[in-house]
Amino acid sequence: MIRTTQLNLGPEIIDLGVGQPSPSLLPFSLVKEAAENLFALSNGDFLAYGPEEGDGYFRASLAGFLTSSYQSPVQSDQLFVTGGASQTLDLICTLLTSSGDTIFCEDPTYFLSLKIFADHDLEVVGLPLDEQGLDVSALEEKLQQARPKFVYLIPTFHNPAGTTLCQERRKALVELAEKHGFFIVADEVYHLLSYGDPPPTAMAGWAGSGKVFSVGSFSKILAPGLRLGWIQTDPALWRHFAGRGLLQSGGGLSPFASAVVKEAIDLGLLERNRIFLQKVYGQRLRFLKKTVRDCLPQSEVFADPGGGFFLWLKFDPGTDCEQLLPRAREQGAGFLPGNRFSAHDSCPNFMRLSISYYPEPKLESGIQRLACLFEG
Ligand SMILES: Cc1ncc(COP(=O)(O)O)c(C=O)c1O
Repeated sequence: MIRTTQLNLGPEIIDLGVGQPSPSLLPFSLVKEAAENLFALSNGDFLAYGPEEGDGYFRASLAGFLTSSYQSPVQSDQLFVTGGASQTLDLICTLLTSSGDTIFCEDPTYFLSLKIFADHDLEVVGLPLDEQGLDVSALEEKLQQARPKFVYLIPTFHNPAGTTLCQERRKALVELAEKHGFFIVADEVYHLLSYGDPPPTAMAGWAGSGKVFSVGSFSKILAPGLRLGWIQTDPALWRHFAGRGLLQSGGGLSPFASAVVKEAIDLGLLERNRIFLQKVYGQRLRFLKKTVRDCLPQSEVFADPGGGFFLWLKFDPGTDCEQLLPRAREQGAGFLPGNRFSAHDSCPNFMRLSISYYPEPKLESGIQRLACLFEG
């Protein structure tokens, strides 16, 4: 079979574990319009090797977009363009760590970040989180025993837990980083997808501290195939990236996608798409919460997410969600079992469901199929 997409799901399965956007939400005509504008206006600089930090006009447009979305000023010289959040995490590991170093992250955390940390042979220490996000007092205690190179966290609309770190903890975290000399890697890819009250200040707001890397991406607000994202940090920090052989040899990352997305920003298409997605995903999330409440009374939603893609469901302590998965498959359903998100296998009785891939009728059928696992 010739593969053209990473995911190839048959129509018979409803896999609520999938955390990618539905194909119908991928903005084909938006990208076409932005690209046509680009080809009509540009001198073609985007076909040359780009500046290591990313195209200056794109960074200025992105700074403007972030300033209005975050409702606080973002300077373009704090922005470094990347090929998406996954590549950013890999770059940060390359830059900040050596094999065998310790890093801290939340337990649970984004499961594929654990794979990236394993690729770099890092010692991962998980920190508990509660409904308010990372438990910063537990972090403070752990710092007595070990000194991490960085703390990785997903402060807003957490994957998988749905939590959002409250403002006081954000401040306390930065104070700890300054006191103990570690970096904060804040994966903020869901920050711009809120469906109710706006979240607290993005960790990007502390970029000037010299301790924070705020990791952003266009995968969730536009399209993952663009392979485009950014880091917001102190310019003194991103300059270390710019000096790497990767950038010196290949030039800046994703110059063509940056040029297209610059047009999308300047034409107002990105903001329009974001508002559209907030509406669609917001409806889906409210629908999924209600359906889970009605059809899966054996579960409890860990934190009521105000945005993002995920519901983190908790079952009785005796439930082993990994073991339920083959039976779910037989029913034509899927989910991601909790332990995949834990560095310490501490979430056996949890599962992650996503609203990103399926519209309401499929979400409902998927939950009904999962409900069969708990009957009788
Ligand atoms: C928390 C988190 N970080 C990073 C990524 C990957 O982002 P990107 O597509 O920009 O590499 C995802 C995608 O699911 C995610 O949920």
